[in-house]
Amino acid sequence: MAFQKLDFNEIPEVEMIARSRSFHMNMARRRTVRDFSSQNVPMEIVTNAIKSASSAPSGANKQPWHFVLVKDPLVKKEIRNAAEKEEKEFYEHRATEDWLEDLNQFDTDWHKPFLETAPYLIVVFKKNYDIDGNDRKKNYYVNESVGIASGFLLVALHEAGLVTLTHTPSPMGFLEKILDRPKNERAMLLIPVGYPEKNAKVPILEKKDFDSTCTIV
Ligand SMILES: Cc1cc2nc3c(=O)[nH]c(=O)nc-3n(C[C@H](O)[C@H](O)[C@H](O)COP(=O)(O)O)c2cc1C
Repeated sequence: MAFQKLDFNEIPEVEMIARSRSFHMNMARRRTVRDFSSQNVPMEIVTNAIKSASSAPSGANKQPWHFVLVKDPLVKKEIRNAAEKEEKEFYEHRATEDWLEDLNQFDTDWHKPFLETAPYLIVVFKKNYDIDGNDRKKNYYVNESVGIASGFLLVALHEAGLVTLTHTPSPMGFLEKILDRPKNERAMLLIPVGYPEKNAKVPILEKKDFDSTCTIV
């Protein structure tokens, strides 16, 4: 393994504190959006965000992820139809009473128009192993790695000025079929990306305060 000098510029502490505050303020404004506008978005913004996601750390640098960027209206329609089928089953049969009660505050149901309205859908796949000829090469800490990469993706899109919905119409096997993915890929997240509808509303949610989410020892 060859090494190179780390590219690192020390920033004055006062500036670091200011940067961390302003980053936090921007992050605290991120919201999951369910009302999307069909307004077009330059594709480079989204591909740059996917590149940022791909720069994430991963177990043994295996990068066990694959992103499919869907912009074709026919494919979006196919995904919507399949997702709504799963979601109808979920809301009408599979969901427990407790789960439905927890979902009440979001006013969601099995209808998922945003899967067609949003200009882009990003489907995040995880790879438990890579295929090398006839061999399977195991990947490590796959869920952690893909979770971190997905976090990078959401932050990059928010930072660029777009909104997202982290959607999980489980089970998501239909995405592997529709998008013709190889057998080592499993869909983890379906993320509509775009601008919010003009009158988009979000639920008023409380976030846990710092003291209840962090212990300093
Ligand atoms: C792993 C994961 C799965 C989620 N699945 C759904 C989903 O299927 N449908 C949905 O409307 N929201 C989904 N959400 C969004 C959450 O409801 C939302 O993040 C949460 O209510 C907090 O709201 P905020 O993102 O605006 O802070 C999901 C979020 C995560 C992290």
